[in-house]
Amino acid sequence: MKEQLSELKQRALAAVASASDIKALEDVKVAFLGKKGELTVVLKQMGTLSAEERPVMGAFANEVRGEFEAAFSQKLTALKADEITSRLETEKVDITLPGERQKLGSRHPLNIVLEEVKEIFTAMGYTVAYGPEVEETKYVFDMLNTFEGHPARDEQDTFYIDDSTVLRTQTSSVQIRTMLEHKPPIAIISPGRVYRCDEVDATHSPIFHQCEGLVVDKGITFGDLKGTLETFFKRLYGDEIRLRFRPHHFPYTEPSAEVDLSCFKCGGKGCSFCKGEGWIEMLGCGMVHPQVLINCGIDPDEYTGFAFGMGIERITMMRYEIDDMRLLYENDMRFLKQF
Ligand code: DAH
Repeated sequence: MKEQLSELKQRALAAVASASDIKALEDVKVAFLGKKGELTVVLKQMGTLSAEERPVMGAFANEVRGEFEAAFSQKLTALKADEITSRLETEKVDITLPGERQKLGSRHPLNIVLEEVKEIFTAMGYTVAYGPEVEETKYVFDMLNTFEGHPARDEQDTFYIDDSTVLRTQTSSVQIRTMLEHKPPIAIISPGRVYRCDEVDATHSPIFHQCEGLVVDKGITFGDLKGTLETFFKRLYGDEIRLRFRPHHFPYTEPSAEVDLSCFKCGGKGCSFCKGEGWIEMLGCGMVHPQVLINCGIDPDEYTGFAFGMGIERITMMRYEIDDMRLLYENDMRFLKQF
């Protein structure tokens, strides 16, 4: 039995030495020490030995097992170290490679300008009101004194959902909604998207943005309107800007006016930017028509008001000297990155 154990030991140690990975090493252990392992089988034969031989053989068998286990754990440590080394090698990260830059977005120029418009008016005590883009014709037209037959209602100009529903052509509908819901004093601005049947070109788009303003209270005059718009544009564009009020017609205001601003580029002398005019048309405004107040249940003998409406695109284009409106919608990163 002694020879058998010695031979077994040699083979087991050789197998441990030649195991090339942890799995192979574990297999050697099972083959040698497992339930049906070779050493186990030999140890089971101990019972057949004489009483004198048994302790001697037992001690030898323990020595063999001890040697095997020492060799096993030594090899295991070595294999684990190898594994770490090779993982370090294959999973190596080159920290000298340049990183991938995260692209940070920026606000769209229309939003930047709209934010400023809102700030200026809320600082003057206005609140911001919103209304639906799919709107009833009575709010977009009828109650604003714009009855059947007015060119603004023409199918060529307006997107109809059905006879009494349109994509709003102006944010003026929010004036009506506000006056129906609130008693004066009223001071609101209402920004939002509007829709018209226009071909896309450098100054037109079927979708654009407006910001409407409305003030109704006792004793409101055209002077208040002029002062408000002058304060607004000076805050937005600087103190040098001058305003010019030209008589105009809107069905919902009386009197009505269009407002021009002195040209940013030439200050009013005339240049290519203002097409030699020295002035740039900016917005429509006027004193709220008494009939519009009556339509909303407000007594025009007690209250007066002013209203105005401007295009956010136009204000933005003036602000940044953008000469083509399409740039605002095309999402070209080279353009947007500049803001
Ligand atoms: N709604 C007009 C437009 O779309 C602008 C406008 C003019 C609004 C006069 C008003 C106003 O509130 O009083 O061109």
